[in-house]
Amino acid sequence: MIRRCFVMLAALMFGLATAQGELEIFSWWAGDEGPALEALIELYEAQHPDVDVINATVTGGSGVNARAVLKTRMLGGDPPDSFQVHAGQELIGTWVAAGRMEDLTDLFAEEGFLDVFPAGLIDQISTDGGIWSIPVNIHRSNVLWYVQSNLDSWGVSVPADWNEFVSDTCPALQAQDVTPLVLGENWTHNHLWESVALAELGPDDYQGLFSGDLAFNDPKAVAVWDTFGAVLDCANDDASGLSWQQATDRVVGGEAAFNVMGDWAAGYMVTTLGLVPGEGFNWAASPGTDGVFMWLSDSFGLPLGAPNRDNALDWLRVLGSREGQDAFNTLKGSISPRLDSDLSLYNAYLQSAADDWSNDVVVGSLAHGAVAKEAFMSEFATVMEIYLGSRSADAAANAAQAIANQVGLNN
Ligand code: GAL
Repeated sequence: MIRRCFVMLAALMFGLATAQGELEIFSWWAGDEGPALEALIELYEAQHPDVDVINATVTGGSGVNARAVLKTRMLGGDPPDSFQVHAGQELIGTWVAAGRMEDLTDLFAEEGFLDVFPAGLIDQISTDGGIWSIPVNIHRSNVLWYVQSNLDSWGVSVPADWNEFVSDTCPALQAQDVTPLVLGENWTHNHLWESVALAELGPDDYQGLFSGDLAFNDPKAVAVWDTFGAVLDCANDDASGLSWQQATDRVVGGEAAFNVMGDWAAGYMVTTLGLVPGEGFNWAASPGTDGVFMWLSDSFGLPLGAPNRDNALDWLRVLGSREGQDAFNTLKGSISPRLDSDLSLYNAYLQSAADDWSNDVVVGSLAHGAVAKEAFMSEFATVMEIYLGSRSADAAANAAQAIANQVGLNN
């Protein structure tokens, strides 16, 4: 109270305009997904001590629940001041296409963001009509996590591809009652699928699925489902009851050998579990995808009609700043897309990710909104159900193509 009066008095005496009121930020970074976001909020609060920040979160990995709540709020005329959305088609094909976002081109120009974010990433958040969000990170989807000392004691090594995994690694582990690959709740199946698809198709054909150059029911794409099925036979049968963190715990705890998960798992293992990269856990590109970086990016935008627009603009300034990005990403398990980020602040896993991001072939993630619009992605969950229920590669492949025809991929 005293501080607030003092700040207001100073503002009156010196003519300073201090931000007041509220700022509501909406995301799915709840619980142990929260520390990186909290670091950003702390930075914002230090600069704007009189603003009440409302950190509205809806739990659920990959935003499965948050997106539904956001949709209700946006369509109901009750937008938050700023919300998390994946860069790429999840942003462009949904809220931008619906004309619900503010163009942030002026903010990019004022803050010098046009010079410090890679042009390719700016493309992913732009249309002819503007630039629509501030990216806070680059995550990698196609990562295989394991603990080297556990692999040594089981006498297995990191498989080079899924064929080796299915025919050698998996039976060797099963014979010792170790789960070869741990999976979690529904969306993590989609997450695994995209890594299998990338491995089986290679980067060009994988991208062809989303540009329309390769049909989902082309024989090559049908074969992805067969490999995926063989990989699933090596997974735990209680997947639907596990969050991605609980799946990660099984690798760390030595019940399972491998997990394919985005590198938010590194954030969890370092920030929440206190493990040291390279000691408590190890990583490799998911089998058959060495040299390819499947990217996704979390970003925040400004919805039209945001109740506290000026505060939201200040929030976006913090998100794009180098200080904000380095505070956030070092905890989150992601790297900053800023070309001037201070890599010396980042741990060994993140430094290796930064190196791969600059040197690998880069393709976008399906499960995390980069390459196909939300309508396709949510229907893809039905395709997955069809496959899990029938184990028919043809049925799944035909359903995927039917959905691509019906809702479109990115138009
Ligand atoms: C992704 C998101 C990550 C992380 C993950 C697990 O979609 O981009 O930042 O939150 O879901 O919830």
